[in-house]
Amino acid sequence: MRELIDKLYENTVLSKEEYRYLIENFSPEVSEYLFEKAREIRHRYYGHDVYVRGLIEFTNYCKNDCYYCGIRCSNRNAERYRLSKDDILLCCREGYALGFRTFVLQGGEDTYFTDDKIVDIIRAVKTNYPDCAVTLSIGEKEHDSYQAFFDAGADRYLLRHETANNNHYAKLHPEKLSPVHRKNCLYDLKKIGYQVGCGFMVGSPYQTSEHLAEDMLFLKALQPHMVGIGPFIAQHDTPFKNMSNGTLALTLFMLGLIRLTLPYVLLPSTTALGTIHPLGREKGILAGANVVMPNLSPVAVRKKYMLYDNKICTGDEAAECKNCLQARMKSIGYNVVTSRGDCKTMHNA
Ligand code: 5AD
Ligand code: FES
Repeated sequence: MRELIDKLYENTVLSKEEYRYLIENFSPEVSEYLFEKAREIRHRYYGHDVYVRGLIEFTNYCKNDCYYCGIRCSNRNAERYRLSKDDILLCCREGYALGFRTFVLQGGEDTYFTDDKIVDIIRAVKTNYPDCAVTLSIGEKEHDSYQAFFDAGADRYLLRHETANNNHYAKLHPEKLSPVHRKNCLYDLKKIGYQVGCGFMVGSPYQTSEHLAEDMLFLKALQPHMVGIGPFIAQHDTPFKNMSNGTLALTLFMLGLIRLTLPYVLLPSTTALGTIHPLGREKGILAGANVVMPNLSPVAVRKKYMLYDNKICTGDEAAECKNCLQARMKSIGYNVVTSRGDCKTMHNA
């Protein structure tokens, strides 16, 4: 086991079989060994800095029906909302004052927000905050839409691939959602010049260690700037309500593997990780992550953006979240920094 981790540390890649073997057989001791190596690499590129992204969840309308997600269109119990451009700008204003220099505009696939509306919002944010990065996380679009958003000033795009295995993808999504289209979106985004983030859930229903090994090889092939992963957490109004959650241990282990596979990568310690364990985000940082994404959405709508059950930080003001995370990071010897937090060695923009 340790030899395999040493090999990954040296070569930044393993075979699918080797990844699978590690994922199936890791122990707490092996994890600790992996995390030490992951921190070493992380410190080499990013020191003890932790980048923050202000997450603005601006719509929970979604035309898709992913089986795992609380804002899927069939969920009649989801109370739907949209933020206006002015609401979004207010979130940015509050975030800027708190030291955020990246705003992540995240939403369901909401047809109300046409390309023109999104372009208008991007322009407004970039005009008001030219020193900030704008990250979009609004799902699958066609190439020309992505190009228009980029031309309007968007810097980054997050689109989790969810699983690299097409059969597994079909077990998590209705038939009309295509894993091939989704992966093509990621390649389009990269080609256009975005800093791109992909990612997947750990412990999603029907996932095998082989699927996770395939995710690692997909990451190696795509070479994204960012990778967002978190445990699957059942949501009570979805078809997966009775499925078991992903585990803390496996999510942390995957974070460590990702750090060694893509040494420069921006790796968030996600809200989902903080949801399955009170110290999940701290543990994520100690496993190799270097980004946190506190919520900047207005408190009035936070409880409505419930992708999964028991999501944390839904009652806290932005300032509380920022202070809380700052204190949490400090407690483990890391510092939240005020900067755009671009990827250190891959210049793509
Ligand atoms: N548990 C964990 N993560 C989820 N996501 C959606 N639903 C869930 C869930 N039940 C993740 C997906 C999506 C991201 C925005 O949130 O990976 O891409
Ligand atoms: Fe939101 Fe701690 S990060 S309250």
